[in-house]
Amino acid sequence: MGKIIAIAAPKGKVGKSTSAINLSAALALSGNRTMLIDLDPAGACITGLGFGKKEASEDIFAQKETITTVKPHLLKTKIINLELLRIRRLPYIKEEKSIELKKNEYILRNILRPELSHYDYIIMDCPPHLKGTMNACLIAADSILIPIVLAGFSIAVVSRMIAQADFIRDKFNHQLKIAGIFFTIFEKDNETAAGIKKELTEIYEEYILNTLIPKSSQVRQALNNKRPVVVYNPEDEAAKAYRQLAKELSEKKYFKIELLH
Ligand SMILES: Nc1ncnc2c1ncn2[C@@H]1O[C@H](COP(=O)(O)OP(=O)(O)O)[C@@H](O)[C@H]1O
Ligand SMILES: [Mg+2]
Repeated sequence: MGKIIAIAAPKGKVGKSTSAINLSAALALSGNRTMLIDLDPAGACITGLGFGKKEASEDIFAQKETITTVKPHLLKTKIINLELLRIRRLPYIKEEKSIELKKNEYILRNILRPELSHYDYIIMDCPPHLKGTMNACLIAADSILIPIVLAGFSIAVVSRMIAQADFIRDKFNHQLKIAGIFFTIFEKDNETAAGIKKELTEIYEEYILNTLIPKSSQVRQALNNKRPVVVYNPEDEAAKAYRQLAKELSEKKYFKIELLH
């Protein structure tokens, strides 16, 4: 059985989409059957993997209010083992119309759980708001992975995310785990960042991952070339860091799945 991981933080520009694309690609390239789900209105995963406006505007719930399988909507990417699903908007389901999807909150969980026998990882790039779609993602997930840039807002953003995860775990998804917090767009000579890193590490020691994703111009270059940096320039430091992140996560007890290479 695979694992569902929500990449989430209630803030834009902290590296969620970049991490979703590159972690998925790194997992896929090391032999894991991986599904990446782009749930953000901006569609950064869709464009970052070379798809166009048509795919970005795909609305899988537009035709029917209840879909039972995502299979017909999956996009094959150029990366072996990596498939992409675009969910632009979750519908509001009228309770009386939904037989299988009993509650709106469980809509993603109900369509994704049956896919877990076919995938090792399902990675969700969540939108940056603590409501609707984000909650549906957290209810569907086995674990949540929090990317954060080291800046003045970092502690507030992480604490809001952890509080939301606690709320969802308590009310809807008792098994939800924090897979980890990791620092993105990391600048090693930035003193302010170093101070915030120390503070965050003191508060959330048990969750902070060892892998840091360094700031690298190659990330944007890769994006311009519509490829993950792990494919565009595998020797780049950010690319190496994303592969390391995949390795670090795969070694965590509850991730279970083993990387093949
Ligand atoms: N490691 C990195 N080095 C340099 N730029 C990065 C890195 N990671 C992300 N970026 C850039 O930062 C911006 C925000 O990243 P993104 O992943 O889109 O964040 P989010 O999805 O949280 O809004 C994008 O322009 C992206 O290209
Ligand atoms: Mg994004």
